[in-house]
Amino acid sequence: MNTYDGAAEPADLAPLPNESDGQAAPPVMPLAELHLHIEGTLEPGLIFALAERNGIELPYADLDELRARYEFTDLQSFLDLYYANMAVLRTEADFADMTRAYLRRAAAAGVRHAEIMLDPQAHLSRGVSLETCVNGVASVLASSQDEFGISTLLVAAFLRDLSEESALEVLEALLAMNAPIAGIGLDSAEVGNPPAKFERLFARAGEAGLRKIAHAGEEGPPSYIIEALDVLGVERVDHGIRCMEDPELVERLVADRVPLTVCPLSNVRLRAVDKLADHPLPAMLAAGLNVCVNSDDPAYFGGYVDDNFAQLESVLGLSEFDRVRLAANSISSSFASDERKAELLAELSG
Ligand code: ADE
Ligand code: ZN
Repeated sequence: MNTYDGAAEPADLAPLPNESDGQAAPPVMPLAELHLHIEGTLEPGLIFALAERNGIELPYADLDELRARYEFTDLQSFLDLYYANMAVLRTEADFADMTRAYLRRAAAAGVRHAEIMLDPQAHLSRGVSLETCVNGVASVLASSQDEFGISTLLVAAFLRDLSEESALEVLEALLAMNAPIAGIGLDSAEVGNPPAKFERLFARAGEAGLRKIAHAGEEGPPSYIIEALDVLGVERVDHGIRCMEDPELVERLVADRVPLTVCPLSNVRLRAVDKLADHPLPAMLAAGLNVCVNSDDPAYFGGYVDDNFAQLESVLGLSEFDRVRLAANSISSSFASDERKAELLAELSG
């Protein structure tokens, strides 16, 4: 049932699911989710529950009023709500509950390995400590394989609309506390905040032995993808869909098998593409790009990774062959151990 009263849906998308009835088809293929912001899994029901637990008054009278805000015109209009809703995350238990809810839902979607971004600066700026947010998420990730059958890695994502100094300070604090992070990412408002702004941050992360990813080419131009590769040395590009405007770049990405973590429902909801039927994913696959499908901020964009696949199938007629290829790409593009990748690839082909 669509409870998003009055919010016009992009033409070819199914209604945003209510989290209580949002289960898509039964578990399908094993896959890896490589582009997921844990704060973007905060479902409206959990926002209200945490607000009550923490004695926080929300600026929405009820769930319907909150859901009516899930109508975005661009990335910034989403980010405004995404950051505002984080106000309910105060304690380790809040971060842990959010993480557990994601893993439970992801397991049902077939996710067997997840690389999860956390935005520490968005919590520090609200007076929530690094220990609280990192330990809250990490405490659940530590047992995710046993509890949910999902191996996990944590990535600290830095807000590109803040200064590089702020990012460097937070990275040093994460390193000093021995935070269990496997890598760093770059997210938030893209246009006007090119990757090169964070050259020293990514150099420092490299020295510390961390993996490197960055959002690029979501709203920003193809040159941001090139900068992320050449200046930051990223191993994977989040989104990257605007590479299709630069044939030379596409050739390079294909030749180097650079993974692009594409998020189709996100791109439609944030109007990076007009409608799912216009999404470049089929062209990206046809070009031989190393793409995989992810949910980005599933609580905000109308679905988890299985919902993304289901809508790609129904709107774009994605074939079984391409589904398996996308799942295989997700596993091989992950930062999981070679052993874990082999195990999941064998499961996929078996
Ligand atoms: N933070 C959370 N979701 C994001 C997205 N899709 N792009 C940039 N920053 C984000
Ligand atoms: Zn993202």
